[in-house]
Amino acid sequence: MLNRVVFAALCLIASTGQAVALDLPVPEKLERQYALKARTVEVVEPHTSTPDDPLRVRYRALPADELLGRWFGEGWKAQDAAVVFFARDGYRSVIPASRFARHRAYLAFGREDGAAFAVDNRQQHEQGIALGPYYLIWDNLGSEDLLRQGAYGWPYQVTRVELQSAADERRLLPSDASPEVLQGFEASQEYCLTCHHIRGMGGAKVGEDLAQAACRWKPEDLKAWMIEPARWRPGTAMPPLNPRLSESERSLASERIAAFLAAQPHESGCALSRPGS
Ligand code: HEC
Repeated sequence: MLNRVVFAALCLIASTGQAVALDLPVPEKLERQYALKARTVEVVEPHTSTPDDPLRVRYRALPADELLGRWFGEGWKAQDAAVVFFARDGYRSVIPASRFARHRAYLAFGREDGAAFAVDNRQQHEQGIALGPYYLIWDNLGSEDLLRQGAYGWPYQVTRVELQSAADERRLLPSDASPEVLQGFEASQEYCLTCHHIRGMGGAKVGEDLAQAACRWKPEDLKAWMIEPARWRPGTAMPPLNPRLSESERSLASERIAAFLAAQPHESGCALSRPGS
């Protein structure tokens, strides 16, 4: 069954050059199909941990690297490829394929101790969120790099995986993009386009186009909103821009993102692009 899906997808990519997509079957099927053995992977759980209070969890998981290699074929870690993980709730995580070469990732499908496969997402003020069917986790024990990035790149409720060219979203860049706008674009991919979309590119967790929504905000306010949305709207489901970064790093990132959003085409009267405001 899976083979047929992959075969059909590969034919599609061969004939049209489109991305290869795969709806994920249940874990037992994956194990059987690829003669893989589920293993226990211990991680610092980034959704429930805080920098001062790291909480370890042991998950049951399958190695992502091997699965992705079998689905997408030999060359999947090519320079400009990105793996997109689609979640049931509209969240979408675009992960450069090169990241899988640097760190070990797994598709988790349960907890070793048999407790509910769920987490509290402290930053988004949500409790007992189901993680299944699949949760992408990273072997972050002993990796300062990964620990600092927190929950970025840890999509849950994953139902579908797609290999795409990382160049696709570059269509959001104006042709005369300044270095600041370019950096803002990259930061937006990491911090904003997981939930928000611009002209249909990005996540589907929030309906309204991000570039249009941003127009209601003056640059200074927009930056403050990114850094601490709960200050404006207590209990909001929008998380603050990565709190594991230093104050100056967050400030710089928010500035670049605001510059990128201001460079998007929008209608007149956009508060974001009003010079000097
Ligand atoms: C985990 C999902 C998520 C991420 C990541 C996220 N947002 Fe949001 N965002 C939301 C949600 C949900 C709302 C609606 C919030 C509300 O009304 O309480 C929202 C609302 C907004 C709004 C509209 C506010 C208004 O009502 O005028 C803007 C602008 C915005 N986000 C910008 C950003 C930017 C810029 C980033 C990246 C730094 C970002 N968001 C990252 C989920 C997210």
